[in-house]
Amino acid sequence: MTASTDVPIAPDARLHAATHGSAAEPGATGRAGAKAILLGEHAVVYGRPAIAVPVRALGVEAVARPAAGPGRLSSTLYHGPIARAPERLAVTMTAMRAALAAAGQPTAHLDIAIDSSIPAERGLGSSAAVSAAVIEAVLGACGYTADDETMHELIQTAERAAHGAPSGLDARTVRARAAVWFDGGRIERVAVGSDLVFVIADTGVRGRTREAVAAVAQRRAEAPAAVERSLDELGSLATDLREHVSHGDRAAIGDAMARAHVLLNGLGVGDPALDHLVDAATAGGALGAKLTGGGRGGCVLALASDAASAVELSERLTRAGAAAVWTTTVEGSS
Ligand code: PMV
Repeated sequence: MTASTDVPIAPDARLHAATHGSAAEPGATGRAGAKAILLGEHAVVYGRPAIAVPVRALGVEAVARPAAGPGRLSSTLYHGPIARAPERLAVTMTAMRAALAAAGQPTAHLDIAIDSSIPAERGLGSSAAVSAAVIEAVLGACGYTADDETMHELIQTAERAAHGAPSGLDARTVRARAAVWFDGGRIERVAVGSDLVFVIADTGVRGRTREAVAAVAQRRAEAPAAVERSLDELGSLATDLREHVSHGDRAAIGDAMARAHVLLNGLGVGDPALDHLVDAATAGGALGAKLTGGGRGGCVLALASDAASAVELSERLTRAGAAAVWTTTVEGSS
């Protein structure tokens, strides 16, 4: 079905009239998924490359529909008028406003429902994924869709509210369906030589990305040479890792992950709860394990030898006190 001519001209030239109806949809849906950074968090803020993988077990769906009166928000964190949403939802509200502004309908009243299985503040890209889903839903409810670049810029508007100067890695990867290489603000699909089975274990400690990013910046101001050396090494590890992933060299991938964890600790973004789960993963047969995302809490990403070992590893991490455990397989692509 094509859009009819009474669809308003998009105020933002990069938006396109939605092709599924002739006017604002009664209920438009947006979706995004969780991501785990395989290697390169923090270094990516300083221009080094990173590799991230989708976590298919976790995702978010947002539905937006025109409201009769003042819009309401329905989510696990809050049910009530959008105008009175708590500070904790400031990023989501920024995403909604950015989408409404792009659609030229800044004062439109929408009811928005968010259903997310991605734990918040655990380094799994929850804020970017929720923003992506809300933006897609809000644009849809206003009768528009956006291309990838426009979506990225709108998600980044919200991410800036979350932690100042985001690299764009999260904004790119929560909409990606494959392992991605992120460099210079852009992503490319990474060739994957053979299936990689990861176990993600949640420390239960809230990750503090903004604080962790600020801590690295401060350390870099105080000891620039040492920090640059670590960032360079993380960058080289990511570059080599891309090769290891494309060859399906699990042992080398695991070694790179273990080294990255040490370097990240050195940058001041570790946490004893992360070390505890990294140690438990290693003792439980993981080929490598590291913190993933901003750090100072959040999750550990561990590479299992295969699917059967991932089951044992998950049990081991649960026994070690993980608040939650997920398994995600990155399928071989070549
Ligand atoms: O904690 P998360 O999922 O928001 O990941 C943050 C990744 C960082 O590299 C630490 C910051 C960034 O902007 O890339």
